[in-house]
Amino acid sequence: MAGEKITVGVITVSDRAAAGEYEDHGGPALREVCTQRGWKVEAEAVVPDDVDKIQSTIRAFSAQGCGLILTTGGTGIALRDVTPEAIRAIMRIEIPGFGETMRMKSLAITPNAILSRCLGAVVDQSLVLALPGKPSGAVECLEFVEGAIPHSVKLCLGVPTSC
Ligand code: MTE
Repeated sequence: MAGEKITVGVITVSDRAAAGEYEDHGGPALREVCTQRGWKVEAEAVVPDDVDKIQSTIRAFSAQGCGLILTTGGTGIALRDVTPEAIRAIMRIEIPGFGETMRMKSLAITPNAILSRCLGAVVDQSLVLALPGKPSGAVECLEFVEGAIPHSVKLCLGVPTSC
């Protein structure tokens, strides 16, 4: 991560957005937050709620150098919500503090935050954060944990760092 600029991939996970049935607002909302932080959004995709598609997109974004990969959607309890399962099946480790913090802080905003299985994990050389599908919820959750992102991304990339 030359120049300390975090390189980001953003993946919207939604059957309906992938089918063009509605416009993706979550991806653009996350892109805007990242851009405001001075991070570089290098890859974006809209994929259906499909384990293989989610996994292959995460791995492709990691291979192209995204130190941070944000997914939005599919963290809930609907039948098609499989984002956490897709990530857990390919992660090296989960970082429980990300999901714990996002849920805990979100509960102050809505009791429905308890339904989100949002998480943080290391996949290949990337920090992957699975955020809720509602654009405002995705942005809120990202903001709740953003302080830990630069250090986490460096560790994922194997960049020497001091705490
Ligand atoms: N977290 C925050 N911060 N703000 C929200 O509006 N929405 C919740 C929850 N987490 C929400 C939130 C709702 S309504 C649901 S159903 C779950 O996230 C799961 O959303 P997903 O299935 O779209 O990922």
